[in-house]
Amino acid sequence: MKTIIEPFRIKSVEPIRMTTREERARLIREAGYNVFALHSDDVLIDLLTDSGTGAMSAAQWAAVMRGDESYAGSPSYYRFRDAVQALMPFKHVIPTHQGRAAEAILFDVFGGAGKRIPSNTHFDTTRGNIESTGAGADDLVIAEGRDPANLHPFKGNMDLDRLDAYLGEHGASVPCVMLTITNNAGGGQPVSLENIRATAAIARAHGKPFFIDGCRFAENAWFIKSREPGQQDRTIPDIVRDCFAEADGMTMSAKKDAFGNIGGWLALNDDALAEEARNHLIRTEGFPTYGGLAGRDLEALAQGLSEIVDEDYLRYRIRTNEYIIEKLDALGVPVVKPAGGHAVFVDARAWLSHIPPLEYPGQALAVALYEIAGVRSVEIGTVMFGRHPDGSETPAAMDLVRLAFPRRTYTQSHADYIVEAFGELAEVKDSLTGYRIVKEPKLMRHFTCLFERL
Ligand code: F0G
Repeated sequence: MKTIIEPFRIKSVEPIRMTTREERARLIREAGYNVFALHSDDVLIDLLTDSGTGAMSAAQWAAVMRGDESYAGSPSYYRFRDAVQALMPFKHVIPTHQGRAAEAILFDVFGGAGKRIPSNTHFDTTRGNIESTGAGADDLVIAEGRDPANLHPFKGNMDLDRLDAYLGEHGASVPCVMLTITNNAGGGQPVSLENIRATAAIARAHGKPFFIDGCRFAENAWFIKSREPGQQDRTIPDIVRDCFAEADGMTMSAKKDAFGNIGGWLALNDDALAEEARNHLIRTEGFPTYGGLAGRDLEALAQGLSEIVDEDYLRYRIRTNEYIIEKLDALGVPVVKPAGGHAVFVDARAWLSHIPPLEYPGQALAVALYEIAGVRSVEIGTVMFGRHPDGSETPAAMDLVRLAFPRRTYTQSHADYIVEAFGELAEVKDSLTGYRIVKEPKLMRHFTCLFERL
C-alpha cells in the first residue's frame, strides 16, 4: 500500500467550535491583528505551534498516574533521567519547566555584555535569552538555508568556513557554540550528522564548548536516516546518540520531540558547570530532581521519549508536511522546500510581493488565513526578527509564515482543508494590504505587539 496512514487510532477527542468568516474578521481585529491574542477556542485548526500541543498516548496518560510527587529524589526523576540518557549520553540531566528556562540558565552562565554566541540560527527565545544578558547572537547558517526555493537536503547546516573565520576573529569573546536541530527559524530544516560533527570539531579546535538545541532531534534524525549517505540502515536511536555524542551539552524543549505538554531540560558533561546550573535552578525553577515540573510530567516525558523515535510515527509525521507542500506547490504557493520537520513554511515575501518587508507580508498572510479559514499560523520574519537591540528595524532574512503541526493531533482532512484555504487565498492575495505596528515591547515583540491594517 502506498498511503501512509496516521499510525494511531483516536481514543479521546476534543470538539472544535465552528466560527463564521464575519466572526473571525471581528475577532482578529479586536486582537490587534496579533494571532497570539486570539482565544484558542475561536480557532478551527491551530497551527500556531507544535510546542506542547501534541496528543499524549494512552501509555503516557497511564504513566501520569505513576508520577511520584516527592520534593526530592522522586523515582519519576530517575526514570526521566534514564530515558534522556538512553538517547543523549550526557552526565548531568537537569529538568526545567520548558526549553527557554534551560536557555536562561545556560546564558546566565555563558552570556554577558561583550560576549557573542554563534549558531546556525538562534530561535527567538534563545536569542532573547542571550541578548537580555547584553551578549550578541549571530546566525551562521549556510547560504542555501536562506533561499526558500533551494533544494539542499540539509538547509539547517552551519556554514563551517564562516564559523571557523568567526571564531578566529571573535574567539576571545565567544563562550560557546550552539547548533539548533532542526533549524526552526530557518524553515524547520535539518542539520546533517556530518555537519554536526564538523561543527563540533571546529568548536573543539578553538577550545569552545559545543551545545545543541535539540528540540526536534527525532525529526532531525529521520532526515539524516532518509537523506544522508550511509545512514539508511541505522536505527533512529543510534543516529540520535551519534548526534549528541559530539556535544558538551544541550538545551531541550520537551514540548516538541518528547511528546510533552510541558517540560524541558539542560544536559551537561562538565561537573562545575552543572553545579552552577543546579544552583541557578534551585533559585528559579525548583529542586534538581524536578526542575519546574511535576513528577507526573517527568513520567509522561520518559514515556514520550520512547515513542518519538518510532519510525512509523516519524514517517507519517514528515509525510504530512510533504503532502501539504506538494499541494501548495501545485497551487503556485511558494513554500520552503524541501519539506521541513514540524511545519510548512510559506514564503510570504515572494507570494505577497506587493507588500514591502517593513509592512510585514507574513503578518498580512497569517491574518488573511485566519479570516478566511480559521487557521492560525504565525509570522516568522520581520515582525519576529526585524527589531534590533539598538532600536533600529531592518527586514529579516526571510518573511515566512509557519504552519506548525501539533504532533498526532490533526488528520488528513484537516490537511485538505488547509490546502483548500490556500486555494481561496490565491484568489484574493493581490488585494491584501500590509500592517503597521502601533505598540511593541522591547524584546520578542511578536508575542504581544499590536498592529493596524494599512
Ligand atoms: N529552541 C527552539 C528551536 C524552539 O523551537 C523553541 C520553542 C525553544 C527553543 C524554546 O522552548 O518553548 O519550551 O521554552 N519553540 C516554540 C515554537 C515556542 O513555536 O517554535 P520552549
